[in-house]
Amino acid sequence: NASSAKAGKTRNIVEKMEEQGKNCIIFYGSQTGTAEDYASRLAKEGKSRFGLETMVADLEEYDFDNLDTIPDDKVVFFVLATYGEGEPTDNAVDFYEFITNEDVNFTEGNEPALGNLNYVTFGLGNNTYEHYNSMVRNVDKALQKLGAHRIGDAGEGDDGAGTMEEDFLAWKEPMWKALAERMGLEEREAVYEPVFSIVEREGLTKESPEVYLGEPNKMHLDGTAKGPFNAHNPYIAPIAQSYELFSVKDRNCLHMDIDISGSNLNYQTGDHIAVWPTNPGEEVDRFMNVLGLSEKRHTVVSVKALEPTAKVPFPTPTTYDAIVRYHMEICAPVSRQFLAQLAAFAPDAEARAEMTKLGAEKDYFYEKISLHHLNIARVLEIVGKGQKWTNIPFSAFIEGITKLQPRYYSISSSSLEQPKKISITAVVESTQLPGRDDPFRGVATNYLLALKQKQNGEPEPCPFGLSYELTGPRNKYDGIHVPVHVRHSNFKLPSDPSKPIICIGPGTGVAPMRGFIRERVQQVKNGEKVGKTLLFFGCRKSTEDFMYKNEWEEAKEILGDNFELITAFSREGPKKVYVQHRLKERAEEINQLLEQKAYFYVCGDAANMAREVNTVLSQIISEQRGIPEAKAEEIVKNMRSSNQYQDVWS
Ligand code: FAD
Ligand code: 2AM
Repeated sequence: NASSAKAGKTRNIVEKMEEQGKNCIIFYGSQTGTAEDYASRLAKEGKSRFGLETMVADLEEYDFDNLDTIPDDKVVFFVLATYGEGEPTDNAVDFYEFITNEDVNFTEGNEPALGNLNYVTFGLGNNTYEHYNSMVRNVDKALQKLGAHRIGDAGEGDDGAGTMEEDFLAWKEPMWKALAERMGLEEREAVYEPVFSIVEREGLTKESPEVYLGEPNKMHLDGTAKGPFNAHNPYIAPIAQSYELFSVKDRNCLHMDIDISGSNLNYQTGDHIAVWPTNPGEEVDRFMNVLGLSEKRHTVVSVKALEPTAKVPFPTPTTYDAIVRYHMEICAPVSRQFLAQLAAFAPDAEARAEMTKLGAEKDYFYEKISLHHLNIARVLEIVGKGQKWTNIPFSAFIEGITKLQPRYYSISSSSLEQPKKISITAVVESTQLPGRDDPFRGVATNYLLALKQKQNGEPEPCPFGLSYELTGPRNKYDGIHVPVHVRHSNFKLPSDPSKPIICIGPGTGVAPMRGFIRERVQQVKNGEKVGKTLLFFGCRKSTEDFMYKNEWEEAKEILGDNFELITAFSREGPKKVYVQHRLKERAEEINQLLEQKAYFYVCGDAANMAREVNTVLSQIISEQRGIPEAKAEEIVKNMRSSNQYQDVWS
């Protein structure tokens, strides 16, 4: 790995542990930061409760051929997310390939190879996907096969059921018990020890050129940002145009074209674009206010890790305001464990008791906090009854709140048609919840909405909008820009355009399908022969949220009989009509197309839709071919593994 070699960092984990005096290493395979967070929490807890010398490590930064030399008085944790169709996260690809390889080779050649290795596993998955938690399951299996000794159960958290946090909490207690027993550790009274020191820099102001005001790295600070643009380095892209696809009451959907011509970014139809959001001003203010930081928000601080293996998750010197606005997921759900930790810093005994109760009682926490989607500042406001929480060390937030994550969007344009312009199709997240005056609002989609308003010279914020810092750090994002990078995906058209395709894309699930259909239109314009193209689109009402209606008519003009749009309007008749009902009505044709090796694509955020479509497809195959359902399910499974059936979250 060139980048770590250049930085003079070792890729030898055994050496690193020795050098740092560590006996517990916590590896994470993380895509959106959750697994990384869980790893940090385990590291902290292992240290404060059991005196373990813990360190968190990114799987990408180490080699694994010496895992067999880790002595048995040490322990290795693997906190592993499963991504999409059972794939490892980007940072875990090499590790996964290494450890699951039939001919895995270690340097020492011990027998069994990992007979000395003690390990712990926790997986993060989503049970709406077929390959639920397959990463952790396969890694666990591979480690067992190599003779390693697992401590506690192989934990699994389920994002699909929304129980990730509770699954984690329930798994870790018996795991710690087993680990303490195995390693002869004594549990002690946990005392909070900050991981980071925050030093206020009197000589600097937010105007000083070396002070970061949200810039993700030095090049951005210096105004010399250049590629490669990736998950560590966004491209600050101009927005070419943006408009509303529909807007009813406070439900709206955005279309945005992002210009990447000034960068070396490229994409292929079916890829994803990541948008780096900014927190809304209202929530930044709330956070500052409840912590008593409002007066100091522009004070310049340097943040240093007190632990050599801990990483400050943003560049400094910076300001409290910039940390909170650009780097912390302050609107996200709070964890019970975090509230329990903060109890010690409550402004009075009543608030302390309430935080302890919220931390300890799952049902109480659900009813008071989860149900209303309260973020950390809102919880502190309510529990403290308006008092300020000035005793909490700021380090506790850097440790306890996830790093603000980019959000992915299925690119809805065709790279053949517009290689340097990426389209996004996004529904603005705004949900009225019980027990709240204001709706819950998604961070990135409301940021995109604000950008759209700004670009079109509309009053900001609109009546249901939030105020965002749009020009960005020190006006470096001058004009209407959005920080992005591209993530390549496996969601791809067949390489032979004459193959038929069946696209199922209700709601914003239509995003990548729009890209596919525009691509096919372009192919015809280029003189290519294009196969049958079916699009199943569903929305509430033909007059309300029927996205890209005109575009489908234009596609029809070019593609002719080869293109057909099949609609399912769920709220127009007495009964719900969904895309899978329409699919079933076309059973015979669908089966024929599949027999001609049609590719089948599913995308959408409608809960359960993808699963129900999968089931209906099996039923169609079973009925049409006169074979048992189990056999048909097998066929669908094989279609998935051969990529003839592709499914992506929208
Ligand atoms: P967030 O602020 O991230 O909130 C999202 C959800 O998180 C909420 O609905 C809620 O369930 C939960 N949540 C957040 N805060 C709390 C809290 N305090 N308490 C409880 N729950 C909370 N979306 C599209 O519109 N179009 C696309 O084409 C598209 N493509 C995607 C492709 C991929 C590969 C992936 C992974 C996702 C895609 N998405 C798409 C979804 C998109 O990435 C975002 O998740 C979505 O836009 C919401 O982002 P947000 O920041 O507005 O909401
Ligand atoms: P509904 O909201 O009326 O239930 C886009 O969101 C479309 O997907 C809407 O018409 C929505 O219908 C529909 N939808 C909701 N749940 C679905 C499911 N399980 N399967 C298919 N479509 C669904």
